[in-house]
Amino acid sequence: MSDLHISPDKDAVARAAADLFIVRGRAAIAQRGFYYVVLAGGSTPKATYQLLAQPEYAARLDWSKTHLFWGDERCVEPDDVQSNYRMVREALLNHIPITMDNVHRIQGEIQPHEAAEQYEKLLRRIWSNADWPRFDLVLLGMGDDGHTASLFPHTAALHENKRWVAANYVERVGMWRVTLTAPAINHAACVAFMVTGASKAARLKEVLNGVYKPQELPAQLIAPTDGDLLWLLDADAARLAR
Ligand code: 6PG
Repeated sequence: MSDLHISPDKDAVARAAADLFIVRGRAAIAQRGFYYVVLAGGSTPKATYQLLAQPEYAARLDWSKTHLFWGDERCVEPDDVQSNYRMVREALLNHIPITMDNVHRIQGEIQPHEAAEQYEKLLRRIWSNADWPRFDLVLLGMGDDGHTASLFPHTAALHENKRWVAANYVERVGMWRVTLTAPAINHAACVAFMVTGASKAARLKEVLNGVYKPQELPAQLIAPTDGDLLWLLDADAARLAR
């Protein structure tokens, strides 16, 4: 069952996501002393990260106990304008009191398969005896083709059910990506999609209400095994979805 949270506009979605980020973080730190959260790339979440950088949000979270991860990265230098790390650094990291020891970026600048292996080793050091990582929160976006993270339609990473992190060549964008795999995402305590804009409405209806065809609509792969699945939507994106 998908839990839809429909806000009037994208600014309200950004606030809803920022509130969720803080609430889940405070609970995780209170319960276990740490907060392990996965950040989405792309453009939608940038407003959320900019809000979290504001004092009224940033002051509500113990950043010394917060660990930031990425759901995916483009295989580019960290200073490249396409880098998801760079986007987060500019929107959030440069403005909050977080040590870089708690910032776990994917190394987009090295060979993709090596970057995936290095990231998986990092995660396995944290969840050393686990079959899968258990993030407290995974933020995701959805492309207008139904992809999420760098799980694009008809790409090899969609079939990965053992690795936690995969290198994935994406013809559509003509580049290598490194991405968390669907099972690695699905073992999180909470997964929240952020989808805004009329351009996503038809695809979102397919993903939520249409035939299950995850090779074409990879966002359909996301179904937490023991966690919450939230869709933070604006009215334009939700217009056609039930
Ligand atoms: C990326 C993201 C990707 C993104 C969607 C939506 O690296 O681009 O991980 O999955 O979330 O493409 O992007 P927008 O938010 O820009 O629409």
